[in-house]
This record gives sequence, C-alpha cells and structure tokens, in this order.
Amino acid sequence: MRQQKILVLDFGGQYDQLIARRVRDLHVYAEIKEYDRVTLKEIEIEGYRGIIFTGGPCSVYGEDSPHFDERILDLGIPVLGICYGAQLMAYMAGGKVGDAGGSGEYGEARLNVVSDILFEGVPEESLCFMSHRDSIMAVPEGFRVTASTDKCPVAAMSSEKRRLYAVQFHPEVEHTEYGNRMLSNFLFGVCGVDGNWKMDDFVEESISRLRRELKGRKVLLGLSGGVDSSVAAALLSRAVGKDLTMVFVDHGMLRKNEADMVERVFGNMYGSRFIRVDAAERFLEKLEGVKEPESKRKIIGEEFIRVFEEQARAAGEADVLAQGTIYPDIVESGKGGSATIKSHHNVGGLPGSMDFRDIVEPLKELFKDEVREAGRKLGLPEELVMRQPFPGPGLGVRVIGEVTRGKLWTVREADHIFREEVDKLPAEIRPDQYFAVLTDTLSVGVKGDGRAYGLTVALRAVYTDDFMTAEWSRLPFETVAQASHRIANEIPGVTRVVYDVTSKPPATVEWE
Ligand code: XMP
Repeated sequence: MRQQKILVLDFGGQYDQLIARRVRDLHVYAEIKEYDRVTLKEIEIEGYRGIIFTGGPCSVYGEDSPHFDERILDLGIPVLGICYGAQLMAYMAGGKVGDAGGSGEYGEARLNVVSDILFEGVPEESLCFMSHRDSIMAVPEGFRVTASTDKCPVAAMSSEKRRLYAVQFHPEVEHTEYGNRMLSNFLFGVCGVDGNWKMDDFVEESISRLRRELKGRKVLLGLSGGVDSSVAAALLSRAVGKDLTMVFVDHGMLRKNEADMVERVFGNMYGSRFIRVDAAERFLEKLEGVKEPESKRKIIGEEFIRVFEEQARAAGEADVLAQGTIYPDIVESGKGGSATIKSHHNVGGLPGSMDFRDIVEPLKELFKDEVREAGRKLGLPEELVMRQPFPGPGLGVRVIGEVTRGKLWTVREADHIFREEVDKLPAEIRPDQYFAVLTDTLSVGVKGDGRAYGLTVALRAVYTDDFMTAEWSRLPFETVAQASHRIANEIPGVTRVVYDVTSKPPATVEWE
C-alpha cells in the first residue's frame, strides 16, 4: 500500500518544521517542500492525502511574496492554510486580505469558534497563538467564518464542500491550547488518514529514497562521532553500502577513547568504507593564536571540508557530501533570515569553494529525539544512540580562547571524570548533555603546601527536549562535589571547579 503522506508547503515561516513534527507525532508522515521547489504536477503525482500551507513573513500583495498555482485548491486534496498560508488561501480563492490599519496581533489571544469539523472537541472559547499583521478581510465565496478573536474577525474560515480550511493562528505552537486537536481533526477528520506511520517507516522510506536518488554515485560522509552523523552514517550505509565512504577525522579535539569506539561500531558496516584520519596536527596548526569563537568554528569547519575533499579525491570519484545536519542546526544557523546564532560547522560554516557537486542531509527534518529513535531502528547500539550530542568542532569550543594540546588534554581529562561521575546517576535523572569546559580564567589555590595559580574548569549539565532551549540541571550536590574533588585533585594545573547555573536562553549550551 502506498505510504499516506501530507505535504507541508513551506512559504518561509518560522514554524514549518514544527508543523511537520506535530503531524509526525500524530503518526502521519509529513514531507516539507519549499513552495518554489515543487510543481502542481509533482504534487498531483505524489498522491498526498492533505496539504498544509505554512506561515511566512510576507504580505500576499507584496512584490516578492511567495505564491503558488491557485489550481492547487482544485486538486480535490484537502488543504489547511496556517497564518500566511491562510491569507494566501483567501487570496487565491478570491477573498480579500489587508492590514486593517492596526498594528497586528502577536502572542496569546482568546479564540471563539463555531461548530466546524476542524474544531470538533474544541471548546467555544480557548487560547490561541497569533503572530500576524495582515488579516483576512473578506472570505472568498463558498467559505464561512468559523472562528474569531477580539482583534481578528476572521481567525478561521472553511469551505467544507471544497475541503479547504484556514486558520490565522498557529495550531502547531504549544500556546494554542487545542492546536493538536485541530491538527488531528484536519488529518483524521478531513484527510481521512490512518495515523499508523512509525519511525521504522521513516527509516525504510529514507533508505529507498536515498538508494533511488544516489544511484550509482559515490558518497562521502564526515563522521564526527556525535549521534547525528552516526545515524546519518548508518542510514546511508544501509542505503548505498559500498558506495559510501565514511571519513572519521580525528581532529585532536575528541573526547577520551572516542575515536576507538567509533571505529569499533562503523569499521565494518554493510560493506561501506571507513577511513580514520589522524589530522590533529594540521587542525592545531591552523588554530594557533586564534581566540575568537566564530573564527575557531569557521577554521575547524573549513579544515574539515579540506580533509574531506582530499579523502574524496583519494577515495575515487565521490561527488556527494553527506551530512548529519538536523533541524535545530538549520534554525540556529539562520534559515530564512532569522538571526544567526552560531554557524554550526555542518551548515553555516561551509566554505564557498567546495568540490562536491551535491550535499545530502537525510536527517534535516528531524528533531534530536527523532534522530535517536531512527538510530535505534537502524540497530545502532544503545550506548551510541543515547550518547550526548557532541559538536563538530569538538573540544575546540570547550577550550575558551586559544586551543593548545595542553589545554585539550586538561579539558579531556576533566570531561572524562565529570562524565564518569554523572553516569553513576540513575538514567531517569541523568541530564541530556553534560561536559566540562576549560575557561581562560586563572585563579589562586592551595595545592600541597604551597600557593598555586591555576586553571578553572567549568562543569555544564542541561536538561532539554530539543536543544533549542535547555534548563541547567540541578544535579545532586554529591555528584558535583565528587566531580569537583576528583578534577581538582587528579588533574595537575587545575585549582578551581565551578558549576554553570545558566539556562538557554539566555546562554547557549556550549560556551562558544
Ligand atoms: P548550543 O551551544 O548552540 O548547542 O546551545 C545546542 C546543541 O548543539 C550542539 N552543537 C553543535 N553540533 N555542530 C554540531 O553538530 C556544531 O558546530 C555544534 N555546536 C553546538 C551542542 O553541543 C548542543 O547539543
């Protein structure tokens, strides 16, 4: 039977992936396509069971505002328009959109609904999340208004006959109290899908898609040792087997024993090639004297690509670069004009002069917990799947300021001790990420009988669902005490250990 799927037509809104995520959470497969990368014909052929128009930053009347062939509304496929998508639907179907002269509506609003299939099980009054300037001023012929707020007379409209639905607010955002209910009404009530999609299906679908798309091509993948690239490696290895070359670059900024563990798992997988490159020397040379975090990230990112390119040449005709980019990386690297927070080396830090013809990023729609689940389905050992994420630039961004061999040794040992101590805690209370940072602050201490002027190590531990926000972990004092005691005593040069009590935001998880 053909996979039931929903198309999320992306008009550049900030919650697009979240919409897809919510749909997947309801066990329906959702595929995101940018509005200008797909044609009406392709949509028809793909056999989508429903389409969701996402939000977007523009006004439908703007010169460069995203539009789509209006015949999409006549394909007989149910459509749900959200925010800009709602206005676009109104505009396409002959209604009127405008800014009503007001200043827009942002944040929570009281929503009043009338009886409609989309609002089944939703009370007459509830909270919704609004973020818009323009509004639908007049609904198209054949549509009726199904919800309103104080400031927005057309907060929702529908044409039951044509199976077209539109909501000005964001049902995918948690602040919309009954948002999930509305999405599930659309999926099950209107589109009539089953809701039996599972992560296994994602894995199997991805494997066949990758097989199809990469047929006969040689793929090179950079394994960083983190969960994301590991899952991408396992997926691609299953898909293309011997056509995959995994390059594991030991850039000298990995955690203790990490390289051997990676080699153990991937050294022998579905006939793929595994290459371990010892490149510590050249990375450290490039980093000499560099203190600024973004410069460090850029340098490490570029050097990574250089090493890949060399390996690609050595490996033969590899012309596709695979990356374990996941959705939060894309958001944080500033997709669609949102502010760049950090240039993650696997997105924003890519140098312009790359030799690869294509990039494949099979996990880019997934959130972290989904990636772990996919890893499990792929049969990766639990030890690896449940591993904390580890940034591409590695310990390089956990040594504040200039990176040297000595500092790396110190942070590696401290990190190892801290992780050993935290790992003694029961899994339920273990933080999602925990590591040590070597700060650039020197402080006075007493070691043995004498005064010491030494290094300060910071311990960082956070709880998080998706790494977009994180709460600092209230670790048991005993654990912190034990780690601190061991680090200060076992590692020469360390005179002080501090614990980071900042959440994200305003801090980020990593210090650099
Ligand atoms: P931040 O510090 O941005 O980190 O709050 C969020 C999560 O992302 C990890 N991280 C990275 N992962 N490449 C990666 O693949 C990178 O350059 C990178 N920088 C940070 C970080 O460890 C945390 O889990």
